[in-house]
Amino acid sequence: MADSDLYLVYHGLPLPKVAHSEESLKYFQNFQVKDDDVFAVTFPKSGTTWMQEILPPLLNGGDLTSVETIPNWDRAPWLEETRASVVLDKLPSPRAIVSHMQYNLMPSSFFKSKAKVIYVARNPKDVLVSLYHFHKMAKFLEDPGTFEEFSDKFLSGKVMFGKWTDHVKSWRNPELGDRILYITYEEMLQDLREVLGRILKFLGRELSAEALDRVVNHGTFKNMKTNKMSNYSLVPEDIMDSKKSPFLRKGIAGDWKNHFSPELDAKFTAIIQEDMKGCNIRFPWDEE
Ligand code: A3P
Repeated sequence: MADSDLYLVYHGLPLPKVAHSEESLKYFQNFQVKDDDVFAVTFPKSGTTWMQEILPPLLNGGDLTSVETIPNWDRAPWLEETRASVVLDKLPSPRAIVSHMQYNLMPSSFFKSKAKVIYVARNPKDVLVSLYHFHKMAKFLEDPGTFEEFSDKFLSGKVMFGKWTDHVKSWRNPELGDRILYITYEEMLQDLREVLGRILKFLGRELSAEALDRVVNHGTFKNMKTNKMSNYSLVPEDIMDSKKSPFLRKGIAGDWKNHFSPELDAKFTAIIQEDMKGCNIRFPWDEE
C-alpha cells in the first residue's frame, strides 16, 4: 500500500500528506456547500489547473484580476486540502471549488445542495504519463520507478486518489441528474471557446464575445505557462523541481504514444476495459 510517510489513507485512497491532513479532511466533511457553489471535479492530472484558470472569470463576468493576482490554489481551492479552511470562507460567491474526491465521499451538505459540478475527464493513458512526470518533479511523492512499474501502480489504484476507473464511474451517478456537466480535456484542447460556451450555458450565465475571447486567450497553454499565479513557479524548488519536469509540461493529447510499448498499450487497454465493463460509458479515446 501507499508509503505512510508520504500519504495518509482516507477511505482506502492515498492522499499526499503535503496538502492533506486529518484536520483538512474534517473541514471537508463538515463543509457547508452553498447552492451557487460550482465544483470542478477531476482525477489528478486531468486539467484541474486549467479549470482553476477559466472557471473564476466565467463566474465573475469575465474579470481576470483574480487569475492575475491570486495563486490557483487560493482562487479555486481544493475542498479536501489544507488551504481550503484558510481561504474558502473568504471567497466571494459564486465560489469556484475544485476536488479530486470520488462522488460517494463528498460532504453530506453537497448531496442536499443544488451546487453544480463540471467533471473533466482525460484519456487515462495521458493521465498516467502526466502523473509519472509529476512524481519525478514533486518531492512529496515517491520516485515513480520505471514507466512500466508506475503503470502497474496506476492500474491497481496505488497512486494518489486511487483508481482512475473508480473515480470516473463514481461521478456517473444518476442521482446527479442535470447538476453535472461532463467534458473532456481533449475537447478543451480542440476548441476551448466551444467548451466554455457549453459551461456558460450549463451555469445559466453569459459573457460578451470580447470577454469570452479574453478568457480563452488567458487559458491557452502558452499563456498559462507564463502566468506566475498558475505555473507553480511560486512553489519552492525543494517541493516542486520544475527543472526535472515543469508542472505545465506538454499540454497535449496523445503523449502516451511516446511512452507506451505495444505490449503495455494492450495490457493497459484490457485492464481499463475490464474495470469499465457493464457501465456503458464511452469516451472519445475509446474509439481510437
Ligand atoms: P501534461 O503533464 O500532460 O502536460 P492537473 O492540473 O489536473 O494537475 O493537470 C495537469 C496537466 O494539465 C498537465 O498535463 C498540464 O500541462 C495540463 N494543462 C494545464 N493547463 C493546460 C492548458 N491550458 N492547455 C493544455 N494543457 C494544460
